[in-house]
Amino acid sequence: MHIAVHERVIRPARNIVGSLRLPGDKSISHRYAMLSGFAEGVSRLTNFSTGVDCASTLACMEALGAKVNRTGADSVEITGVAGRVGAGDGTREWSLDCGNSGSTMRMISGLLAPQQGRFTLIGDASLSQRPMERIRKPLAAMGARLMLTDGHAPLIIDGGPLKAIDYTTPVPSAQVKSCVLLAGLQTVGMTVVREAVRTRDHSELALRAFGATLTRAADSVSISGPQALRAIDAEVPGDLSSAAFFLCAAMLFPGSNLVVDALGLNPTRASLLDVLTALGAHIAVLNLEEKHAELVGTVQISAPAEGLGSTEISGLLAAQLIDELPVLAAIAPYTSGGIRIRGARELRVKESDRIALVAKNLRAMGAEVEEFDDGLDVPGGQTLHGATIDAGGDHRIAMAFSVAALRAEGETLIQGAESAAISFPEFFDLLDRVAER
Ligand code: S3P
Repeated sequence: MHIAVHERVIRPARNIVGSLRLPGDKSISHRYAMLSGFAEGVSRLTNFSTGVDCASTLACMEALGAKVNRTGADSVEITGVAGRVGAGDGTREWSLDCGNSGSTMRMISGLLAPQQGRFTLIGDASLSQRPMERIRKPLAAMGARLMLTDGHAPLIIDGGPLKAIDYTTPVPSAQVKSCVLLAGLQTVGMTVVREAVRTRDHSELALRAFGATLTRAADSVSISGPQALRAIDAEVPGDLSSAAFFLCAAMLFPGSNLVVDALGLNPTRASLLDVLTALGAHIAVLNLEEKHAELVGTVQISAPAEGLGSTEISGLLAAQLIDELPVLAAIAPYTSGGIRIRGARELRVKESDRIALVAKNLRAMGAEVEEFDDGLDVPGGQTLHGATIDAGGDHRIAMAFSVAALRAEGETLIQGAESAAISFPEFFDLLDRVAER
């Protein structure tokens, strides 16, 4: 049981040592929950994400008629609606609360747009500020009726049959791609999604695992509908974006030694390992296997004795590392040559404006940092001091600065620490376990 604590004091550590197994990947858990809820039959999911965001997806699927039976803290049995939301019970209007979860709102819209009924999707204050035009546009091109307020939630969908499209995503976004694919799954004809930058492909792999056929080329995915899905049994791989906090913490201490088991290592997600290697980390990947086409393995990391180098992240790398950039920026002052981030404008429209909040909190700890519209320059060779951190209700900011605090002089107070539970309720307990003081 994890009690919500709003403020956490993080004391400096001497080293990071130990072995961890992390809760299920958030992106994969969302997709397995949605597809299980939509498929025919009973899916059994283990190592399901313990985060609040994935609970939002489960609650939405339950409201839509799927049977959701929590069989443990991280396991769930889901009986799907066999391709038809609300079949048989006469319900025609649904109100769905997506909480803080952009993934839930954007992907479920694609699932619902071809269904009969009126769906009103709401979210918390942060989600209600995030751009939704990016999904309204392709769904409208398919003939869907979607209403937004000023480009934001609440999002109202008047569902009904759609027509297939060939769509090129204007921003690199796996959520937008997934939204269109989920609509295409239920639509007569061939729907094609093209993307300039290959974003995470969990939806493609999950759709196949649930029995769908789709075709992939270097920069596009095509799905021919309608197709039915069938239930699966699956163990969700550990969350690499959660592991990122511990891997980056291990980078801060020569002599560190951390092992993370059963970690998701999908190549569209695993660039972090390349960046840490470029900074000097010693990384070994062991026990590689595939689970429903998702790569899973053990990662062992230790920091170099001679200190961390420097690196630049932009273009494709920035898009694929988008969730890990806050923690990379937060450890950048401890490198020798700094970290330069560009091409990451999307960070400004996440759960918070992550560029502004990273810069603000680095400065609070005494660091020098330069903010750009699409990134940050964080010089290396800096000493940070403990400070009061404003997490801004953003889980990744709370965790990133808990990591930075491990090598600061003095204690750091994380305000808004409870937001970590959005993706990773166990974070502070596990940090205490591997941080030697
Ligand atoms: C996600 C995609 C990314 C990422 C988010 C999860 C997903 O968002 O930042 O945490 O599961 O598809 P975008 O698709 O908006 O880039």
